[in-house]
Amino acid sequence: MKREVITTADGSSTIFLPELNECYHSTHGAINEAMHIFIDAGFRVMMNQKSKLHILEIGFGTGLNALLTLLESIAANQAIFYHGIEPFPVDKCELDQINYPEQLDSTAAKTLFEKLHTSPWETKQAILPTFELLKTKQRIEELHLSTDFFDIVYFDAFAPTVQPELWQQEIFQKIFASMKEGGILVTYSCKGDVKRAMKACGFTIEKLPGPIGKREFLRATKNSTQNIE
Ligand SMILES: C[S@@+](CC[C@H](N)C(=O)[O-])C[C@H]1O[C@@H](n2cnc3c(N)ncnc32)[C@H](O)[C@@H]1O
Repeated sequence: MKREVITTADGSSTIFLPELNECYHSTHGAINEAMHIFIDAGFRVMMNQKSKLHILEIGFGTGLNALLTLLESIAANQAIFYHGIEPFPVDKCELDQINYPEQLDSTAAKTLFEKLHTSPWETKQAILPTFELLKTKQRIEELHLSTDFFDIVYFDAFAPTVQPELWQQEIFQKIFASMKEGGILVTYSCKGDVKRAMKACGFTIEKLPGPIGKREFLRATKNSTQNIE
């Protein structure tokens, strides 16, 4: 499928799929959206509660969430195991056009971004002594996940309108089982069907104020009995 690297409103890159009319991130700002949903409402909520956090990302894509998590983990002195799932990896030519290292206020970002992408698939690699990465070139539907393992899940698949099969109860059930008690899943969609599918698995749902251009997004927690609307 044809993919084009474009620039979003905060100056950071994203990938656009013309055939689906779908972007990898919000056109209002890729870095802004990723920081708001995945880092602020996900990683920062859990950091420094455990010596090592296990993070699962559905849709590794450009590696933006992984890069932001890696930089945050250095600042927070938080050890991480990061499992990124991606059946259609970005290629070198696309990566050369993606400007996250230049956009982020970090001298280490360029080297770390390259390490995230040159790290081999299907084998656990230490990007830093405190950051282990496993990239799996598989669809979430086909993947076997360990039970009671992940503390944080970044659910960053294409939108339910584009990939409805990934936003079903069966997929959320598999992810729920892979999470530890108290673990959280963050995602940008707030659709009613998505919330219902998550609740049916046992997740507690929170609707949180969204980044620029998006009213709300979801955080789902594996615990307690009450659903907050
Ligand atoms: C909305 S993009 C987000 C990408 C990434 N998180 C980023 O920041 O660049 C969705 C990603 O999900 C990947 N994807 C598509 N089908 C998938 C599947 N069945 N299982 C897991 N990931 C999938 C796409 O290739 C794409 O990279």
